[in-house]
Amino acid sequence: MSVERDKERRAHSVFQKISFCYDFMNDIITLGIHRLWKKDLIKSIPVESKMVLDVCCGTGDIAIGMGNKLKTSQITALDFSERMLQVAEKRTKAAHLKNIEFIQGNALFLPFKDNSFDTVTISFGIRNTSDYKKVLDEIHRVLMPGGVFFCMEASYPDPFILRGVLSAYCRFIVPIMGKILVKSYGEYRWLDESVGAFISKEELTVLVEGAGFTEINLRTFLFGSCTLHSGIKGGVDEY
Ligand SMILES: C[S@@+](CC[C@H](N)C(=O)[O-])C[C@H]1O[C@@H](n2cnc3c(N)ncnc32)[C@H](O)[C@@H]1O
Repeated sequence: MSVERDKERRAHSVFQKISFCYDFMNDIITLGIHRLWKKDLIKSIPVESKMVLDVCCGTGDIAIGMGNKLKTSQITALDFSERMLQVAEKRTKAAHLKNIEFIQGNALFLPFKDNSFDTVTISFGIRNTSDYKKVLDEIHRVLMPGGVFFCMEASYPDPFILRGVLSAYCRFIVPIMGKILVKSYGEYRWLDESVGAFISKEELTVLVEGAGFTEINLRTFLFGSCTLHSGIKGGVDEY
């Protein structure tokens, strides 16, 4: 089995297994800080967005946030884990949102025509995929010219000591928390494995640029623990 295929299977199996506790554990592991970062992402989405896609939507945090913000827009949210999607659908129903459609699919082969969306987001998703460049190329393809793209992703912080502390926390403490709280040790090793193996924010900027995005902007949170890239698909004078 190729390394790429192996990574994809591992990621799929991890999220299938932790779907029931994903939201609960995110709050515990990050002390709720992920909610603030996601709020920031949702705040950044242009209010003019009409056709929006959230790739690797998981249990729907971003899609639901956008569904609430953009009441008259159509939100499409895609993920390859059936179980994560089931949680997302339940949460959407509970929030009485009718403008979100969930689709099971692979971020590497987006099942949409070229130029279908004016806004595309991917939040804490790209590092789990087996080919970052292909995902960015796909997102660029389905965006309309002038459309905006947002990619939020976790990384280990820049300051050396903080980096050491956080990586030790993710490598040793988080899996133990996973084991004690939700009986999932191996699945909670995935956080450190995927963040540790992910490219730097500078390398990601190069890939975003390489996919054809312009006006690339980068914001970091908590000393580089999280980065928000944004860019525009060229082709019109202004968005
Ligand atoms: C860490 S979760 C992020 C979920 C959500 N976006 C959030 O911010 O909470 C990563 C999600 O990416 C999905 N995923 C990973 N690789 C994928 C792929 N190749 N295609 C579609 N979904 C994928 C997983 O199933 C999982 O739901």
